[in-house]
Amino acid sequence: MSIKKSDTVKAFAPASVANVSCGFDVLALAINEPGDIVEVSKSDKPGVSIDEITGDDGLLPREPIKNTAGRAALALIANLDEEPDFGISIRIHKMMPLGSGMGSSAASSVAAVVALNRLLGDPFSKMDLLNFALEGELAASGSPHADNVSASLLGGFTLIRSQNPLDVVQLHVPDGLVIAVFHPHLSISTKNTRLILRKSVQMSQAVKQWGNVGGLIAGLYTEDFDLISRSMEDHIVEPARSILIPGFDEMKEYALKAGALGFSISGAGPSVFALCRSEEIARTIQNDIVKILDTYNLQVDTYVSPVNRKGSYVIEEGEDPV
Ligand code: HSE
Repeated sequence: MSIKKSDTVKAFAPASVANVSCGFDVLALAINEPGDIVEVSKSDKPGVSIDEITGDDGLLPREPIKNTAGRAALALIANLDEEPDFGISIRIHKMMPLGSGMGSSAASSVAAVVALNRLLGDPFSKMDLLNFALEGELAASGSPHADNVSASLLGGFTLIRSQNPLDVVQLHVPDGLVIAVFHPHLSISTKNTRLILRKSVQMSQAVKQWGNVGGLIAGLYTEDFDLISRSMEDHIVEPARSILIPGFDEMKEYALKAGALGFSISGAGPSVFALCRSEEIARTIQNDIVKILDTYNLQVDTYVSPVNRKGSYVIEEGEDPV
Protein backbone atom coordinates (compact mmCIF):
# COMPACT_ATOMS: atom_id res chain seq x y z
CA MET A 1 0.00 0.00 0.00
CA SER A 2 1.45 3.41 -0.84
CA ILE A 3 0.76 5.91 1.94
CA LYS A 4 -0.90 9.17 0.87
CA LYS A 5 -0.87 12.26 3.11
CA SER A 6 -4.57 11.76 3.82
CA ASP A 7 -3.66 8.35 5.23
CA THR A 8 -1.83 9.99 8.12
CA VAL A 9 -3.36 12.02 10.94
CA LYS A 10 -1.51 13.81 13.73
CA ALA A 11 -3.04 14.90 17.01
CA PHE A 12 -1.83 16.94 19.95
CA ALA A 13 -2.89 16.27 23.55
CA PRO A 14 -1.96 18.61 26.40
CA ALA A 15 -0.47 17.88 29.79
CA SER A 16 -2.79 17.96 32.77
CA VAL A 17 -2.72 18.58 36.50
CA ALA A 18 -4.70 15.87 38.26
CA ASN A 19 -6.17 15.93 41.74
CA VAL A 20 -6.02 19.77 41.91
CA SER A 21 -5.25 19.42 45.62
CA CYS A 22 -8.30 18.00 47.40
CA GLY A 23 -9.77 16.07 44.43
CA PHE A 24 -7.71 12.88 44.43
CA ASP A 25 -8.67 10.91 41.30
CA VAL A 26 -11.74 13.12 40.71
CA LEU A 27 -10.53 16.57 39.64
CA ALA A 28 -8.13 17.63 36.89
CA LEU A 29 -7.33 20.55 34.63
CA ALA A 30 -5.51 20.85 31.34
CA ILE A 31 -2.61 23.23 30.66
CA ASN A 32 -1.45 24.56 27.31
CA GLU A 33 1.98 23.01 27.25
CA PRO A 34 3.78 20.70 27.22
CA GLY A 35 1.87 17.97 25.40
CA ASP A 36 2.42 14.95 23.18
CA ILE A 37 1.93 14.48 19.47
CA VAL A 38 0.86 11.14 18.08
CA GLU A 39 0.78 10.38 14.39
CA VAL A 40 -1.23 7.44 13.03
CA SER A 41 -1.06 6.10 9.49
CA LYS A 42 -2.61 3.35 7.44
CA SER A 43 -0.11 0.59 6.92
CA ASP A 44 0.33 -2.68 5.04
CA LYS A 45 1.38 -4.38 8.26
CA PRO A 46 -1.75 -5.96 9.81
CA GLY A 47 -2.83 -4.89 13.30
CA VAL A 48 -1.39 -2.05 15.33
CA SER A 49 2.33 -1.36 15.39
CA ILE A 50 4.39 1.27 17.13
CA ASP A 51 6.94 2.28 14.55
CA GLU A 52 8.62 5.21 16.24
CA ILE A 53 8.82 6.85 19.64
CA THR A 54 10.85 10.02 20.04
CA GLY A 55 11.65 11.85 23.27
CA ASP A 56 11.45 8.86 25.61
CA ASP A 57 15.15 7.89 25.74
CA GLY A 58 14.10 4.39 24.69
CA LEU A 59 12.18 3.86 27.94
CA LEU A 60 8.66 3.23 26.71
CA PRO A 61 7.48 -0.22 25.61
CA ARG A 62 7.17 -0.68 21.85
CA GLU A 63 4.76 -3.59 22.18
CA PRO A 64 1.32 -2.04 21.51
CA ILE A 65 -0.51 -3.81 24.36
CA LYS A 66 2.06 -2.54 26.88
CA ASN A 67 2.22 0.98 25.49
CA THR A 68 -0.39 3.56 26.54
CA ALA A 69 -0.99 4.86 23.01
CA GLY A 70 -0.93 1.34 21.52
CA ARG A 71 -3.33 -0.05 24.09
CA ALA A 72 -5.74 2.86 23.63
CA ALA A 73 -5.65 2.35 19.84
CA LEU A 74 -6.32 -1.38 20.29
CA ALA A 75 -9.33 -0.57 22.50
CA LEU A 76 -10.71 1.76 19.85
CA ILE A 77 -10.27 -0.82 17.07
CA ALA A 78 -11.92 -3.54 19.18
CA ASN A 79 -15.04 -1.38 19.33
CA LEU A 80 -15.39 -0.84 15.58
CA ASP A 81 -18.27 -2.66 13.88
CA GLU A 82 -15.80 -3.97 11.33
CA GLU A 83 -12.07 -4.31 11.61
CA PRO A 84 -10.24 -2.03 9.11
CA ASP A 85 -8.69 -3.79 6.10
CA PHE A 86 -5.37 -2.05 6.73
CA GLY A 87 -2.92 -1.95 9.59
CA ILE A 88 -2.31 1.01 11.90
CA SER A 89 1.13 2.44 12.33
CA ILE A 90 1.71 4.72 15.34
CA ARG A 91 4.47 7.27 15.83
CA ILE A 92 4.66 8.90 19.26
CA HIS A 93 6.47 12.17 19.89
CA LYS A 94 6.89 12.59 23.63
CA MET A 95 7.31 16.24 24.42
CA MET A 96 7.06 15.98 28.16
CA PRO A 97 9.04 14.08 30.73
CA LEU A 98 7.91 10.59 31.71
CA GLY A 99 6.86 10.05 35.30
CA SER A 100 6.52 13.78 35.85
CA GLY A 101 3.01 13.93 37.28
CA MET A 102 1.79 16.01 34.36
CA GLY A 103 -0.28 13.28 32.73
CA SER A 104 2.34 12.16 30.25
CA SER A 105 0.87 8.68 29.68
CA ALA A 106 -2.63 10.13 29.44
CA ALA A 107 -1.55 12.64 26.78
CA SER A 108 -0.12 9.87 24.59
CA SER A 109 -3.22 7.70 24.84
CA VAL A 110 -5.53 10.66 24.21
CA ALA A 111 -3.59 11.91 21.17
CA ALA A 112 -3.53 8.35 19.78
CA VAL A 113 -7.31 7.89 19.93
CA VAL A 114 -8.05 11.41 18.64
CA ALA A 115 -5.77 10.86 15.63
CA LEU A 116 -7.01 7.32 14.98
CA ASN A 117 -10.66 8.33 15.22
CA ARG A 118 -10.11 10.98 12.54
CA LEU A 119 -8.15 8.54 10.34
CA LEU A 120 -11.16 6.21 10.46
CA GLY A 121 -13.67 8.96 9.63
CA ASP A 122 -14.70 9.96 13.20
CA PRO A 123 -16.86 6.93 14.10
CA PHE A 124 -16.69 7.65 17.84
CA SER A 125 -17.79 10.45 20.16
CA LYS A 126 -15.45 12.18 22.60
CA MET A 127 -16.95 10.17 25.47
CA ASP A 128 -16.19 6.92 23.60
CA LEU A 129 -12.64 8.15 23.07
CA LEU A 130 -12.35 8.81 26.78
CA ASN A 131 -13.06 5.16 27.51
CA PHE A 132 -10.46 4.00 24.98
CA ALA A 133 -7.85 6.43 26.32
CA LEU A 134 -8.58 5.15 29.80
CA GLU A 135 -7.61 1.65 28.65
CA GLY A 136 -4.27 3.14 27.64
CA GLU A 137 -3.84 4.71 31.07
CA LEU A 138 -4.21 1.21 32.54
CA ALA A 139 -1.07 0.13 30.70
CA ALA A 140 0.91 2.86 32.48
CA SER A 141 -0.44 3.01 35.99
CA GLY A 142 -2.06 -0.38 36.50
CA SER A 143 -5.23 1.27 37.77
CA PRO A 144 -7.87 3.11 35.79
CA HIS A 145 -8.22 6.75 36.80
CA ALA A 146 -9.85 9.07 34.34
CA ASP A 147 -8.73 12.42 35.77
CA ASN A 148 -5.72 13.06 33.49
CA VAL A 149 -7.28 11.58 30.36
CA SER A 150 -10.50 13.56 30.76
CA ALA A 151 -8.73 16.91 31.14
CA SER A 152 -6.29 16.17 28.32
CA LEU A 153 -9.06 15.09 25.96
CA LEU A 154 -11.74 17.64 26.82
CA GLY A 155 -9.72 20.58 28.16
CA GLY A 156 -10.78 22.79 31.06
CA PHE A 157 -11.49 21.52 34.56
CA THR A 158 -13.03 18.06 34.73
CA LEU A 159 -14.75 16.18 37.53
CA ILE A 160 -14.90 12.39 37.57
CA ARG A 161 -18.27 12.05 39.31
CA SER A 162 -17.97 8.29 38.93
CA GLN A 163 -15.23 6.07 37.59
CA ASN A 164 -17.45 3.05 37.04
CA PRO A 165 -19.72 3.65 35.25
CA LEU A 166 -17.73 6.54 33.88
CA ASP A 167 -19.44 9.88 34.48
CA VAL A 168 -17.34 12.93 33.63
CA VAL A 169 -18.48 16.51 34.16
CA GLN A 170 -16.82 19.51 32.53
CA LEU A 171 -16.73 22.32 35.07
CA HIS A 172 -16.95 26.07 34.63
CA VAL A 173 -13.54 27.74 34.25
CA PRO A 174 -13.36 31.30 35.56
CA ASP A 175 -11.32 33.75 33.48
CA GLY A 176 -7.97 34.74 34.85
CA LEU A 177 -6.86 31.51 36.46
CA VAL A 178 -3.19 30.81 35.72
CA ILE A 179 -1.25 27.72 36.72
CA ALA A 180 2.47 27.51 37.28
CA VAL A 181 3.73 23.93 37.13
CA PHE A 182 7.21 22.97 38.32
CA HIS A 183 8.81 19.72 37.35
CA PRO A 184 11.87 18.98 39.49
CA HIS A 185 14.12 16.51 37.71
CA LEU A 186 13.20 13.45 39.71
CA SER A 187 11.16 10.56 38.43
CA ILE A 188 8.35 9.13 40.54
CA SER A 189 6.16 6.28 39.40
CA THR A 190 2.39 6.71 39.74
CA LYS A 191 2.13 3.00 40.56
CA ASN A 192 4.47 3.40 43.55
CA THR A 193 2.96 6.63 44.84
CA ARG A 194 -0.47 4.99 44.78
CA LEU A 195 0.90 2.07 46.77
CA ILE A 196 2.07 4.31 49.64
CA LEU A 197 -1.46 5.65 50.18
CA ARG A 198 -3.52 4.28 53.05
CA LYS A 199 -6.41 2.10 51.99
CA SER A 200 -8.84 3.74 54.40
CA VAL A 201 -9.31 7.25 55.74
CA GLN A 202 -10.77 8.54 58.98
CA MET A 203 -14.27 9.93 58.86
CA SER A 204 -13.04 13.31 60.18
CA GLN A 205 -10.54 13.58 57.30
CA ALA A 206 -13.14 12.52 54.74
CA VAL A 207 -15.56 15.18 56.00
CA LYS A 208 -12.93 17.91 55.59
CA GLN A 209 -11.99 16.60 52.16
CA TRP A 210 -15.47 16.49 50.64
CA GLY A 211 -16.18 19.92 52.13
CA ASN A 212 -13.17 21.20 50.21
CA VAL A 213 -14.06 19.44 46.94
CA GLY A 214 -17.54 20.94 47.10
CA GLY A 215 -16.09 24.34 48.01
CA LEU A 216 -13.63 24.26 45.14
CA ILE A 217 -16.33 23.44 42.60
CA ALA A 218 -18.66 26.09 44.03
CA GLY A 219 -15.77 28.56 43.86
CA LEU A 220 -15.22 27.80 40.17
CA TYR A 221 -18.88 28.38 39.34
CA THR A 222 -19.23 31.56 41.41
CA GLU A 223 -15.76 32.74 40.32
CA ASP A 224 -14.99 33.27 43.98
CA PHE A 225 -11.20 33.06 44.14
CA ASP A 226 -11.12 33.29 47.93
CA LEU A 227 -13.41 30.26 48.21
CA ILE A 228 -11.24 28.39 45.69
CA SER A 229 -8.24 29.25 47.83
CA ARG A 230 -9.82 28.15 51.13
CA SER A 231 -10.86 24.89 49.50
CA MET A 232 -7.45 23.93 48.12
CA GLU A 233 -6.45 21.82 51.10
CA ASP A 234 -5.78 18.12 50.80
CA HIS A 235 -5.89 16.28 54.13
CA ILE A 236 -5.47 12.80 52.71
CA VAL A 237 -3.03 12.37 49.83
CA GLU A 238 -0.69 15.37 49.91
CA PRO A 239 0.61 14.65 53.44
CA ALA A 240 1.63 11.13 52.37
CA ARG A 241 3.16 12.00 49.02
CA SER A 242 4.78 15.35 49.75
CA ILE A 243 7.56 13.72 51.77
CA LEU A 244 8.90 12.35 48.46
CA ILE A 245 9.37 15.87 47.06
CA PRO A 246 12.39 17.76 48.45
CA GLY A 247 11.49 21.27 49.61
CA PHE A 248 7.73 20.74 49.28
CA ASP A 249 6.73 22.50 52.52
CA GLU A 250 9.09 25.40 51.84
CA MET A 251 7.77 25.85 48.29
CA LYS A 252 4.18 25.71 49.46
CA GLU A 253 4.72 28.23 52.25
CA TYR A 254 6.46 30.58 49.86
CA ALA A 255 3.87 30.24 47.08
CA LEU A 256 0.94 30.89 49.43
CA LYS A 257 2.67 33.93 50.95
CA ALA A 258 3.35 35.23 47.45
CA GLY A 259 -0.37 35.10 46.65
CA ALA A 260 -1.05 31.65 45.14
CA LEU A 261 -4.64 30.52 45.62
CA GLY A 262 -3.35 27.04 46.31
CA PHE A 263 -0.24 24.92 45.98
CA SER A 264 -0.10 21.15 45.77
CA ILE A 265 1.29 18.10 43.99
CA SER A 266 0.52 17.70 40.31
CA GLY A 267 -0.84 14.19 39.82
CA ALA A 268 1.34 11.68 41.58
CA GLY A 269 4.31 14.11 41.57
CA PRO A 270 7.12 15.01 41.59
CA SER A 271 5.71 18.06 39.77
CA VAL A 272 4.03 20.65 41.94
CA PHE A 273 1.77 23.48 40.92
CA ALA A 274 0.53 26.85 42.09
CA LEU A 275 -2.92 27.99 41.03
CA CYS A 276 -2.92 31.78 40.77
CA ARG A 277 -5.35 34.59 40.08
CA SER A 278 -2.99 36.35 37.63
CA GLU A 279 -0.02 35.67 35.41
CA GLU A 280 1.97 38.27 37.34
CA ILE A 281 1.64 36.29 40.58
CA ALA A 282 2.44 33.03 38.77
CA ARG A 283 5.62 34.54 37.28
CA THR A 284 6.81 35.89 40.64
CA ILE A 285 6.30 32.48 42.22
CA GLN A 286 8.03 30.81 39.27
CA ASN A 287 11.34 32.61 39.85
CA ASP A 288 11.45 31.85 43.55
CA ILE A 289 10.44 28.19 43.35
CA VAL A 290 13.29 27.63 40.90
CA LYS A 291 15.66 29.19 43.47
CA ILE A 292 14.28 26.99 46.28
CA LEU A 293 14.73 23.82 44.20
CA ASP A 294 18.23 24.95 43.32
CA THR A 295 19.12 24.80 47.04
CA TYR A 296 18.23 21.08 46.81
CA ASN A 297 20.45 20.76 43.71
CA LEU A 298 17.39 20.03 41.62
CA GLN A 299 16.96 21.30 38.12
CA VAL A 300 13.43 22.24 37.25
CA ASP A 301 11.28 22.82 34.17
CA THR A 302 8.52 25.34 34.63
CA TYR A 303 5.35 25.97 32.67
CA VAL A 304 3.02 28.92 33.19
CA SER A 305 -0.32 28.61 31.48
CA PRO A 306 -3.96 29.58 31.70
CA VAL A 307 -6.35 26.64 32.02
CA ASN A 308 -6.38 25.04 28.57
CA ARG A 309 -9.98 25.04 27.35
CA LYS A 310 -9.43 23.20 24.06
CA GLY A 311 -8.08 19.81 25.05
CA SER A 312 -6.78 17.44 22.40
CA TYR A 313 -7.13 18.22 18.71
CA VAL A 314 -6.15 17.04 15.24
CA ILE A 315 -3.26 19.07 13.87
CA GLU A 316 -4.25 20.32 10.45
CA GLU A 317 -1.59 20.61 7.78
CA GLY A 318 0.63 23.65 8.33
CA GLU A 319 -0.66 24.15 11.89
CA ASP A 320 1.91 24.58 14.61
CA PRO A 321 0.80 22.96 17.89
CA VAL A 322 1.34 24.86 21.18
N1 HSE B 1 -5.05 10.77 40.30
C1 HSE B 1 -3.86 10.09 39.95
C2 HSE B 1 -2.98 9.96 41.19
C3 HSE B 1 -3.13 10.86 38.89
O1 HSE B 1 -2.83 10.95 41.90
O2 HSE B 1 -2.46 8.87 41.45
C4 HSE B 1 -1.85 10.25 38.46
O3 HSE B 1 -1.25 11.07 37.50
